[in-house]
Amino acid sequence: MNSPKRYLVTSALPYANGLKHIGHLAGAYLPADIYVRYLRAMKKDVVYVSGSDEHGAAITIQAMKEQTTPREIVDKYHAILKQNMADLGISFDIYHRTSDPIHHETAQEFFTSLNNRGELEVKETEQFFDEEAKTFLADRYIVGTCPVCGHPNAYGDQCEKCGSSLSPEMLINPRSTLSGNAPVMRATKHWFLPLNKHENFLREWILTEHKEDWKTNVLGQCKSWLDAGLQPRAVTRDLDWGVQVPLADAQGKVLYVWFDAPIGYISATKQWALDNKKEWEPYWHDKDTKLVHFIGKDNIVFHCIIFPVMLKLHGNVLPENVPSNEFMNLEGDKMSTSRGWSIEMEDYINDWIRKDNGGDSMADVLRYYLTSISPETKDSEFTWKGFQDANNNELVSIFGNFVNRTFVLMHKLCKGKVPVLHADIMDESDRRLFTEISASKSRVESLLEQYKFRDAQFEVIDLARKGNKYMQDKQPWIVAKQTGENGLPNAEAQQQIDNCLHICLQLTANLSILVNPFLPFTARKLCYMMKVVDKMLDWENAGKSKLLSVGYSLREPQLLFRKIDDTEIAAQIEKLKLKTRAMEEAKQASGETSPSQPEPAIDKPVDVSEKENPVKPEIVFDDFAKVDLRIGTVIKCEKVEKADKLLRLEVDLGFETRTVVSGIAMHFTPEEVLGKQVTVVANLAPRKMRGIESKGMILMAEDKNGKLHFVNPEGKIDEGSGVS
Ligand code: MF3
Ligand code: ZN
Repeated sequence: MNSPKRYLVTSALPYANGLKHIGHLAGAYLPADIYVRYLRAMKKDVVYVSGSDEHGAAITIQAMKEQTTPREIVDKYHAILKQNMADLGISFDIYHRTSDPIHHETAQEFFTSLNNRGELEVKETEQFFDEEAKTFLADRYIVGTCPVCGHPNAYGDQCEKCGSSLSPEMLINPRSTLSGNAPVMRATKHWFLPLNKHENFLREWILTEHKEDWKTNVLGQCKSWLDAGLQPRAVTRDLDWGVQVPLADAQGKVLYVWFDAPIGYISATKQWALDNKKEWEPYWHDKDTKLVHFIGKDNIVFHCIIFPVMLKLHGNVLPENVPSNEFMNLEGDKMSTSRGWSIEMEDYINDWIRKDNGGDSMADVLRYYLTSISPETKDSEFTWKGFQDANNNELVSIFGNFVNRTFVLMHKLCKGKVPVLHADIMDESDRRLFTEISASKSRVESLLEQYKFRDAQFEVIDLARKGNKYMQDKQPWIVAKQTGENGLPNAEAQQQIDNCLHICLQLTANLSILVNPFLPFTARKLCYMMKVVDKMLDWENAGKSKLLSVGYSLREPQLLFRKIDDTEIAAQIEKLKLKTRAMEEAKQASGETSPSQPEPAIDKPVDVSEKENPVKPEIVFDDFAKVDLRIGTVIKCEKVEKADKLLRLEVDLGFETRTVVSGIAMHFTPEEVLGKQVTVVANLAPRKMRGIESKGMILMAEDKNGKLHFVNPEGKIDEGSGVS
């Protein structure tokens, strides 16, 4: 589509069932935001929508976990997610929610219209039913062995280990997550979308029409779905949480969450139009709309196959592109909220933005690093070290340094004003820098149009790098030493200084425009320093050489980015480790054996069979000295009921006897432990596990085969002896 009349940009609606991590941010939100900010700067008519996905098993399962209602869950997480996105500068025109009445109406109307036109099929099917819980089981409520890879805890709709898309009947030894029982089959009636009837349309539309402009990872997935042959897909469910099926003979049935959620893009647009006195219809019905869906790769089938069929049948526009990212791993392992191996947006904001005086510039730092490692074509990896390096070596040393030097020198050598450009003494390198600016602008533009955000951002930083180099070559601070009788730079020297700083200031103004889609907080800070209104950030201004007028006085420089030191990074790594460990122990304590948190969202496992065991970050002696280690003797040991992994130990520490719950039951029988001497962390805060208060922790060594060994003295020694 060459020049669309308007754009509608969407980011996948995150489930409002918990915090979302920075991998989600990097997948579907940040790239969309960059794109939209660019379009707005281009003065395009663009609406950017997203919101919370508040239906489906993801929500009801979380409600069970938190022992509350689905309503409370969505209210709680919707508010948090909305705020998180705002804090990180994700500039939705509306962040809506699917529990809103306008959405229920819109989704029902959509269903009714398809049904009335005979585009849906009704079928009586057999479905898994939990006799104890007296309910039909949504796919996510059934776990069993994956028929593809043998993973024992695959879900009824997907195996998180191998990524296969499944249906519950395919599972070997299925069990209900509600009761743990094997479910039985019962008859029920459902409405189906016959995807098989639309294969030709999809082939033509995806594999022919879009074969040049869609990303290869997206085309590849679509092709394999189409080659495998499409099946009718149920669009209703037996559940009580969701959008009611608007038919008299469908009591107790709701629309399948993946049917209603994408319609959320439409209801969000409607709400936006109401709020802003605009019309929503053209965005969804006029063929001159360019619709772009930003998603993570586990959403591809829904956005490229199922939703487009729905849109076509309903007479809506089809997506022009579906730029989907691969996954972002974290410090060598898959990112996962349920395992605690993740950095939630909320955590980042707490640690770096709310606490930090740098404030929102730290939002830009995260945006910068995530974009620089964006998993556009393959999985990528977030490391705290990489984060620190990107900040210190690029934002601080290149971008921040260039701007700061320019402002400081302009104040010192040019009276705080934009100096004159003496055209007659301009040299080759002056002219080259101007050419670089406009060349850079066109490159950024074309990369953004191709959704290559990482490369586009690189161009901007590279331009700042060129500015730095230019300044370094010109050395105005040295030129300033060629003084006349009054001690000031002589006329010729001053002219050279003027030219250098004039050019560096025009470059700074240009940088603020180019960097704006990526680092919006920084761009605004620059506008403040240059005393210009945000309007200067209009894209058409980029490439111009006279953005700042001669003689205009500018503010003192502000610090754009601060250095991040090693201790801050070490603390984050340590925090991550503690978090996973706490999650693991909490899971054991609750007797959970499989991931009960649905994570259909954006992660897919990567193979991490070769796990490393790196040395933890350095600590000072005082930190170590806080740990009180003692030798004790186990005088009683028994299994903890209904917890496969836990043993309850009574340990004689000489000065007292402690109860300690330890996760070693898979390795030792109570008899093997009884009488053993052990090393105990004696001053660890007590914790309840399975209702038992555990006071202390037993040290264990793990060999490379994963076998555990007690850490104990060679011969028997007095209970209570200290270890250091
Ligand atoms: N909630 C889904 C997920 O997190 C995404 C829904 S996208 C929408 O995977 F299109 F359905 F809205
Ligand atoms: Zn599998």
